[in-house]
Amino acid sequence: MNLILMGLPGAGKGTQAEKIKEQYNIPHISTGDMFRSAIKEGTDLGKKAKSFMDEGALVPDEVTIGIVKERLAKDDCKNGFMLDGFPRTIAQAEALQAIMTELKTSIDYVIHVDVPAEKLVERLTGRRICPTCGTTYHVQYNPPKQAGICDHDGSKLIQRDDDKAETVKNRLAVNMEQMQPLLDFYNEKGYLVTVNGDQAIDTVFREIQSQIEK
Ligand code: AP5
Ligand code: ZN
Repeated sequence: MNLILMGLPGAGKGTQAEKIKEQYNIPHISTGDMFRSAIKEGTDLGKKAKSFMDEGALVPDEVTIGIVKERLAKDDCKNGFMLDGFPRTIAQAEALQAIMTELKTSIDYVIHVDVPAEKLVERLTGRRICPTCGTTYHVQYNPPKQAGICDHDGSKLIQRDDDKAETVKNRLAVNMEQMQPLLDFYNEKGYLVTVNGDQAIDTVFREIQSQIEK
């Protein structure tokens, strides 16, 4: 099964992706995560991406498309994959169509995790992540057992650089403008399913399951 997860920043794409990955055993491909690890490792890709991400802007299409193309060609994507945070522009969506044709496969579902924009600032500024294992928490909605500490490995939780209040506003504005044309693009192709992301995390997951197992 080939899936795309779409939604505004903070809608819960990463949170749901972890559950989908566990249930359906398909790799979770997040362009945001790929850029963040490149920044951490200090690679050329990381250097290119950092200034855009710090401003809440999009990384240029040619950079982003290149890394996705390379990733989708790997063996672990042969039995399905889940894209999270890609495509984000029509040029990326068109490039993805071409990649699918080349790989002789196609998208099954584009899952739009729909959350009203006014809820997202709170989700983003309250998000905390584990620098060791990558688990995502929320100070209020999904807290760890012990405040500020990862349940899995005891690491001290941190805040993502682009979750600071100043950057969050621009990220939301940029993504709100880019997303609607993409939803229209996939709706016309008949791939789009929308789930209400403004519910408890497990309820959202059950809704996704019922849509893709129809
Ligand atoms: P990226 O990493 O993709 O970030 P994003 O789209 O902004 O999405 P987030 O990771 O912020 O949110 P999410 O939807 O995964 O939410 P989460 O599950 O964590 O991109 C970052 C940057 O990289 C971009 O700004 C851009 O610069 C660059 N980039 C990436 N892809 C690109 C591309 N294709 N083209 C160009 N540039 C690109 O949840 C958020 C919080 O809410 C968490 O704390 C969570 O615990 C909580 N939560 C989740 N679900 C619920 C729920 N149901 N109820 C209550 N709380 C919840
Ligand atoms: Zn951890």
